[in-house]
Amino acid sequence: MKNIILIGFMGTGKSVVGKRLAERLNLEFIDSDEIIEQRAGQEISDIFADYGEEHFRDLETEVIIDLSQKKGMVISTGGGVVLRKENIEQLRKQGIIILLTAEPEVILDRVKDSNRPLLEVPEPLEKIKEMLAVRKEYYNITEYKIDTSRLSVREVIDKVEEIIKNEGG
Ligand code: S3P
Repeated sequence: MKNIILIGFMGTGKSVVGKRLAERLNLEFIDSDEIIEQRAGQEISDIFADYGEEHFRDLETEVIIDLSQKKGMVISTGGGVVLRKENIEQLRKQGIIILLTAEPEVILDRVKDSNRPLLEVPEPLEKIKEMLAVRKEYYNITEYKIDTSRLSVREVIDKVEEIIKNEGG
């Protein structure tokens, strides 16, 4: 079976949905950000602070290449994984890519108490809107999109299951 790959901006539900989806499908769940932290022995915010975003992106690509060799897993990715074309090419090899989206206000509400280095700014809502505008085309790489703004985790998972069936999985 192919991997189910969840992409999308921060706070769109990739990790929460991915974990529950994997339980429901009895598959292994992997969060690429967690693997990066394990390998670096540091939290993502510290990697950004100590070495900068480019270094984080290099670590991210290494992890994506490794995860793309596997099969039958649910993989949730970091929000910026789409910024490097090679990441997407790798993920596509064994995976069905599903984009989760949410409205900027919903995103802010979901991430406001968490540690997201790119949103540590005085006007996070404006930053979210700017980043979404810049990344719009980057996220537009799959026909499968789910707006999670007003859906429960369960409802999102139901939609993912429909997509998997549609793909013959
Ligand atoms: C990032 C999203 C984060 C994490 C890093 C960079 C981004 O992941 O990879 O802080 O560039 O959008 P989540 O989408 O899981 O928050």
